[in-house]
Amino acid sequence: MNKKFNLNMGLSFLILLALMASCSSNPDSAGTEYMPDMYRSPAIETYVDYGEIRGRENKEIKTKLSARQTPKYTVPYYGTDGSEVQMMLPNKRKAGVAWRESHGLFGWDLNAESAYDKARLDTVNLLTMTPENAETILKNGEKLYTSMCVHCHGEKGDGNGTMIQSGAYGDMGVVPNYKDLDTLSEGKIYYSIYYGKGYMGAHGSLLNKKEIWTLVHYVRQFQRDGYGKFEDVAEAESAE
Ligand code: HEC
Repeated sequence: MNKKFNLNMGLSFLILLALMASCSSNPDSAGTEYMPDMYRSPAIETYVDYGEIRGRENKEIKTKLSARQTPKYTVPYYGTDGSEVQMMLPNKRKAGVAWRESHGLFGWDLNAESAYDKARLDTVNLLTMTPENAETILKNGEKLYTSMCVHCHGEKGDGNGTMIQSGAYGDMGVVPNYKDLDTLSEGKIYYSIYYGKGYMGAHGSLLNKKEIWTLVHYVRQFQRDGYGKFEDVAEAESAE
């Protein structure tokens, strides 16, 4: 009985000592930090001054941004490559009535396309295709097309993608054959990919501008035989 009492006393005394040792005469101090990591979470929060632990400063870390990685799926506004920056600037065309009508689906009047009609007919692809880059552009285009468009538009661009074949798309909208849209200007193709059209959703938040222009090339390739084989591009251009 007595022994137990003594043990309890001893324990209490130890705890008291520990508590006292954790106090400090500085009223601003939180006292001794037994587990600093629990007081200051390391570097996960955006602007936490994680450079300082127990008064020890790591100046090198402290002066750098901790939030350097952009969230997944962020579309870069502009690149660091000078030749690409121009392309990344917001394109002149703004979403207008057509976009509101088709995506807000106000009144479901999908024929109201005045803004789209005004989309500049003379806009040419800002990503100029040359004999040197043609292959790369079409390769990148294929990659983008395969991940974002092929299920509706089909591997041959004939509007017969797996979603259409399976009936999942219902009878909502008819996906056109690119070949029938041969006269579309590059500006309009760009506009439709960026803002969407009818039952096709907007892709502006999923693709950066260079990627959209890459896809414009890829769509053209379905419309014009030999597009991207360079002699034919020159021909097609002069025919426009
Ligand atoms: C959900 C199915 C779907 C997806 C995904 C889709 N489209 Fe479409 N697309 C359509 C439909 C439907 C139309 C017809 C729109 C209309 O004229 O009403 C269309 C039309 C178009 C047109 C013609 C636009 C015009 O001005 O007449 C182009 C070009 C086009 N799509 C390119 C693309 C590209 C490139 C992608 C991938 C980034 C893509 N589409 C993804 C369904 C889709």
